[in-house]
Amino acid sequence: PEPPPATAVPQAGDPALTLLRRVGTADPADLDDYRAHGGYTALRRAFALGPAGVIREVTDSGLTGRGGAAFPTGRKWQATASQPDHPHYLVCNADESEPGTFKDRVLMEGDPYALVEAMTIAAYATGAHRGYLYLRGEYPRALRRMEHAIGQARARGLLGDDVLGQGYAFDIEIRRGAGAYICGEETALFNSIEGHRGEPRSKPPFPVEKGLFGRPTAENNVETLVNVLPVLTMGAQAYAAIGTGKSTGPKLFCVSGSVARPGVYELPFGATLGELLRLAGVRDNLRAVLLGGAAGGFVRPDELDIPLTFEGTREAGTTLGSGVVMAFDDTVPLPRLLLRIAEFFRDESCGQCVPCRVGTVRQQEALHRIADRTGDGAADDIALLREVGRTMRDASICGLGQTAWNAVESAIDRLGAYE
Ligand code: NAI
Ligand code: SF4
Repeated sequence: PEPPPATAVPQAGDPALTLLRRVGTADPADLDDYRAHGGYTALRRAFALGPAGVIREVTDSGLTGRGGAAFPTGRKWQATASQPDHPHYLVCNADESEPGTFKDRVLMEGDPYALVEAMTIAAYATGAHRGYLYLRGEYPRALRRMEHAIGQARARGLLGDDVLGQGYAFDIEIRRGAGAYICGEETALFNSIEGHRGEPRSKPPFPVEKGLFGRPTAENNVETLVNVLPVLTMGAQAYAAIGTGKSTGPKLFCVSGSVARPGVYELPFGATLGELLRLAGVRDNLRAVLLGGAAGGFVRPDELDIPLTFEGTREAGTTLGSGVVMAFDDTVPLPRLLLRIAEFFRDESCGQCVPCRVGTVRQQEALHRIADRTGDGAADDIALLREVGRTMRDASICGLGQTAWNAVESAIDRLGAYE
């Protein structure tokens, strides 16, 4: 069944918005309306700057990856553009599967031309003529909107052999995921596009050097790419003035759980967790907040002054990840919640490496045993969980295994989940 439309933008219509300003106000199926709302200004500026100029702007803006890892986008683009090996590829990672993450869906359903324009700019800057949009299979409405937007852009000369009459060729192909969380890992995603099993590759080599089909590839998240539009329209300096020195620009946060107004919120980096939760109408009986999704960590209600920045959350011993903020009130049984998270990782492990394949099962078994117990009875299993967790973090090939113990560890250490 098709999920309900992503109307969950409680700030829709607020003129102060940057990334969400067209969502809910411009017609997502009308290219002319997109243009009337400022669309394709950024691409024109990109052609005026040239590829090196675009990369300089993106680097100076301080933009970092919004998929969760916060790698500097300008550095990634520069590294791809400078590879002598050709062809280069652009891949947009729209396999948004982190539990509690739905910001890319809102962007694709509400402002699809923005992603088409941003992918064109990214490809132009990095020397690619072909782009792949790897779209989560469970997002049928986003698929329809993106297909329509790509088709219209092609028909109007904004994709194809001669984009905007500038002699630059670029086109986009959509590939759908089939429900595997691991295919959001960039190298598993490449394998999936190439027709192989969706298993991560060892890095290095990084995709900038050997990515899709073994060629230099710039792989970016949807929100990262959409940020390139304001970087170019307002200029790197003005963009970098938003947020904090190390986390620049606006950020989308996916707020869900025990709040009155769940949805996607746009705030500048540096707003506190408490400010965001108050905006969303957090309930009084808050017990815990999960930051960064299943791969992230829990914080307590007395920690709401944590600044929502990559560096601020890191200093607080947690992570911002892809911007998940899941609130849980005191009616939620924590042990059941942790067990659910562990089941998720056990199910989604691709099974390629032993620490993760075996560790996620052992973790789930131990949590199952202690789900209804407290105090001393759980001590042996908690010790086992720590040992398994350390092994997964240190020895797993990819981020799935490396982060599968994060939420459980933080629930034990920060929330006293089994005391
Ligand atoms: P990573 O830190 O390994 O890499 C981040 C990006 O930087 C990658 O594109 C990588 O190729 C590039 N990179 C890193 N070092 C490089 C170098 N020396 N030269 C060139 N490029 C380099 O992290 P990863 O595994 O790509 O992502 C992990 C994050 O993904 C986590 O923070 C997690 O929160 C997030 N995540 C997001 C999901 C979502 O649905 N949005 C789902 C699952 C995880
Ligand atoms: Fe697969 Fe897990 Fe190993 Fe990643 S860590 S390669 S998901 S088994």
